Amino acid sequence: MSIRILAIESSCDETSAAVIEDGRTIRSNIIYSQIATHRAYGGVVPEIASREHLQKITSVVTEALAQSGLRQEELNAIAVTAGPGLVGSLLVGLSYGKAMALALDIPLIGVHHLMGHIYGGLLSHPDLKPPLVALVVSGGHSSLLYMPEHLHIEILGETRDDAAGEALDKIARTLGLPYPGGAALECLAEKGDPAAIDFPRAWLGEDSFDFSFSGLKSSVLNYMNRCRMKGEAYHEADIAASFQTALFEVLTKKAVRACAKMNSPALLLAGGVAANGNLRRMLAAAAAANGIKMYAPAKILCTDNGAMIGAAAHQMYLKGQFSDSSLNATPYLPLA
Ligand code: KG4
Ligand code: ZN
Repeated sequence: MSIRILAIESSCDETSAAVIEDGRTIRSNIIYSQIATHRAYGGVVPEIASREHLQKITSVVTEALAQSGLRQEELNAIAVTAGPGLVGSLLVGLSYGKAMALALDIPLIGVHHLMGHIYGGLLSHPDLKPPLVALVVSGGHSSLLYMPEHLHIEILGETRDDAAGEALDKIARTLGLPYPGGAALECLAEKGDPAAIDFPRAWLGEDSFDFSFSGLKSSVLNYMNRCRMKGEAYHEADIAASFQTALFEVLTKKAVRACAKMNSPALLLAGGVAANGNLRRMLAAAAAANGIKMYAPAKILCTDNGAMIGAAAHQMYLKGQFSDSSLNATPYLPLA
């Protein structure tokens, strides 16, 4: 008998619901993005985000169920993102899912958002299985993780300041690009020279798997200010390309070193920044040179979506990892 899970993701600025069958088949995956709303403010406004989730949640879940071709009585469980994320946003999806699970008398599964990002990759690649090293890079996270088996995570390294996506978004904004800047910066960088400006790489010591991007960010801003003070014009595409390369080089080297340390044959790139073609190519080349196979989710499964939450929930369902009605939204939910 098939296991069908309806999964809801609302941790930041996407309202999404999906129906996942047997952890592998995406019967539906509806994503409503609030980007257009937040763009006017240059970033996500938490209060506006939760209100927009409230307005959209019913239609997004209804559409996900309709597209799945299933009746709600045919669902085996309801999965929700329990954290980390914006508390008001998380609460909308979590409360909706809780009520559905209660009404249908089926289990509720609270999923960690980063676990979801990893399962977005597994969903895209049926041949990919743990053990693996995952580099999860998004607007809120930059983490190097080791997954020895399903649902078990060891944190190898994390960012000490900005997340990779956050740094990309901030520099993009300085260059006058619209929020969220990652994709726009990628387009601009294509016209620039990645070796034009030698921005610093923060290695944080030979053995460290942690990241720090605030020095790099300051260095880009200082470069632009220096040019302005000298009355010199700067080439925006060169800045974008050189900055991206500095950031991606650190991510790439540390990820490959993490695979070597953990003796992992597979490296999974996940999170919103995984949509970046340049990062995918750099990581794939470095991995191949070291005998490691690199995987990345289909682009639609990189940024936040319900399908990845449903795929993670499937594994939790198999292990009976259910939540009760005390499940709460946890903005800083730990992974381990
Ligand atoms: O995973 P996600 O949707 O939300 C969080 O969990 O944070 O990631 C959003 C981040 C943003 O910082 C956005 O700029 C970045 O992913 N992003 C990209 C690209 N597409 C989205 N960064 C670089 N290149 C892209 N093509
Ligand atoms: Zn995310």
